[in-house]
Parts: sequence; structure tokens; C-alpha cells
Amino acid sequence: DASDIEKGTYPHFMLKEIDEQPFVIRNIIQKYQNEDGTVRLDEDIRQAMKSSDRIYIIAAGTSYHAGLVGKQLIEKIAQRPVEVHIASEFLYNMPLLSENPLFIFISQSGETADLRGVLVDVKEKGYKALTITNVPGSTLSRESDFTLHTYAGPEIAVASTKAYTAQMAVLTLLAVDTANAKGIELDFDPIQELAIVASAMETLCDQKEKLEQIARDYLATTRNCFFIGRAADYFVCLEGSLKLKEISYIQAEGFAGGELKHGTIALIEDGTPVIAIATQEHVNLSIRGNVKEVAARGAHPCIISMEGLEHAEDAFVIPKVHEYLTSLATVIPLQLISYYAALHRDCDVDKPRNLAKSVTVE
Ligand code: G6P
Repeated sequence: DASDIEKGTYPHFMLKEIDEQPFVIRNIIQKYQNEDGTVRLDEDIRQAMKSSDRIYIIAAGTSYHAGLVGKQLIEKIAQRPVEVHIASEFLYNMPLLSENPLFIFISQSGETADLRGVLVDVKEKGYKALTITNVPGSTLSRESDFTLHTYAGPEIAVASTKAYTAQMAVLTLLAVDTANAKGIELDFDPIQELAIVASAMETLCDQKEKLEQIARDYLATTRNCFFIGRAADYFVCLEGSLKLKEISYIQAEGFAGGELKHGTIALIEDGTPVIAIATQEHVNLSIRGNVKEVAARGAHPCIISMEGLEHAEDAFVIPKVHEYLTSLATVIPLQLISYYAALHRDCDVDKPRNLAKSVTVE
């Protein structure tokens, strides 16, 4: 049938979409780059970002996890405060808004009902909204003041992969454009750093056998799995655990390394897989301390670190990328480990039970 043609030689859309990520990042660079290699977004978006005193990111699921990374990017690069909210919570538990808020809706499909509810409400209140989406003609895009397209191409697998990395790449460029508008000097070249990410993604996608082996060693029969990380690594742990839950039905949770001792460590048993992410220099030793704590209680730790920060016992090392952009690279081994775990457990990778690609009811 038609879907088989689109998959080409791939057994699943998810695997195809994981592999497309380097191209997606290069595509985004091309779309948002000026001839002189600088970043330039739409003037209206630039003004809206510049004149707002606080950004409110609204999203659900994987897009929410991109939003958490987006907050860090915008706060660090553009020095603008950001709050990130789960769409379905925001309406019923609205925070006290700043004087001049700007709303950013992040949505692969642009159709998620929980987000639309918030959009209608904030538009009624007279606020401006920017939608970051993979579907420019979608409801959220049409009803917002501005749209940024993620240019990831159609995403068919229910579990989101390339849309997530595309969202983070676009959020990076949005942060950079805002910094430029505010006259903030940057100490890195964002286009060059994203190009390095694209190459790193290629290297990661070439290591499928190694990642399949990790999935087999750690996740073939387990009932649960924990992901731990600190700082930026914590956010990618949330996404890694969501991927694993969605497609392999393994009970998985992402935790902040330092929070383990306040409860979660009680769940560690003999052989419990703990995937630890170590890509942030300032917390490298403390996350490794957390790994020792869980290992002492019987856990089976799997450390994924970054070049330059690796230790001999690490199971997998990602190529070096800019510290702000680590999530774009780290998520790839997590996506592939989830994919192979689901495959080994005979799960329907592209169409997991009980889930829909886009949830258009509240
Ligand atoms: C559904 C999908 C998730 C997705 C979420 C948000 O639950 O199964 O993969 O992350 O919706 O979707 P959106 O299209 O708004 O990004």
C-alpha cells in the first residue's frame, strides 16, 4: 500500500524518521540562514520576542520536552525569562502572567486540542501567540499571530523523533535571533554549531548495532527502567523515558540525579536498568556519584556520556557538540534504544497501543 512506498527500505517509519534527523537539521539551517551566514527570522516575530517581558511556552508530550530545552536556550542565549507549561494544566491552573507576555505554542501537528484551548483563551485576552509547528496550515498555525515552521517533513510514527529535534533547532535560532535583536554578543556561531550537531547525528545513526546490543542487554525482559541526568540532561531523560514507555510499554521514568535519594532510589532492585546521561561538564562528577549510589543498591547502570567527559566504564559516548545543544544529539541513542527494545519485545513500533499521533479532543 501507499505507506509501504513511503517507508522505502525501512521496516518502520520510526527508524526512517530517526535517520532523517541530520537532514532535517541541515534543512532548518538552510531555511533560516541569510546569505551572509547569520540567522534572521521574520521581523514581526523578532519584534514580538524583543518587546515581551516573559515568554510562556505551552505544549504537550514530546513537544513539552522540547519546550523545557527551549526555555534554557532562550534564557541563556537571549536572556529573556521563560515559563514552560503543560497545555492541559495551564487553563485550569493559570499562573500570574507578566505585564507583556508572549505565548509560544509548540506542536508537531498543530492540532492538539489541549493547546488550542489555551490559544483561544489567550487570544481572547488580547495576547500575541507564536506557533512552532511542523504543519504550517494547521489550526494552531492559522489561529496564531505568527508561525515558525520546523521543516521536518511528515512524521508518521506515533512516537515523535525528528519533530522533537527540529523543534529544538528552531528554538535555538529563535533564541539567537532575539539575542541579535537585543544586541547581545554571542560567543558561538549557532549555524556552525548546528552543523556540528547534524554531523554528530549522522555518526550516532551509524551506531545502530551497538545501540541494539544495549537494548538487548538492558531492556529485553525488564519490567521498568530509569533515566537519570542533571541540568540539561534531565530534560532529555524525560524524553528518553517517554519514548521507551510509548513504544515498548516498559515502565520508565526520567529523574533529576539529585532527586533520586528523595524517593525514587527505593525502587532500585537487583538488575534494575538505570540509563544515566553525562554530557554536562559542571555536573559530570555528581551524576556519576548518583550512578554509584544506584549501582551499590544492585542497579544495572548504562552511562551515556559525551566525548571529552567520558570515563572507561561508559556504555556509549556521543560526539562532542555545543553544551547548549547536547539534547539534540543525546536523544538519538535514546530513540534507537527504545526502538530496538520495542522490536525485541514484539511491540507495534509505529502504532503503539492506546496512543494517537495527534489528540484533537480534550
Ligand atoms: C500525542 C502524540 C505525542 C505528541 C503529543 C503532542 O500524544 O502521541 O507523540 O508528542 O500528542 O503532539 P503535538 O502534535 O502537539 O506536538
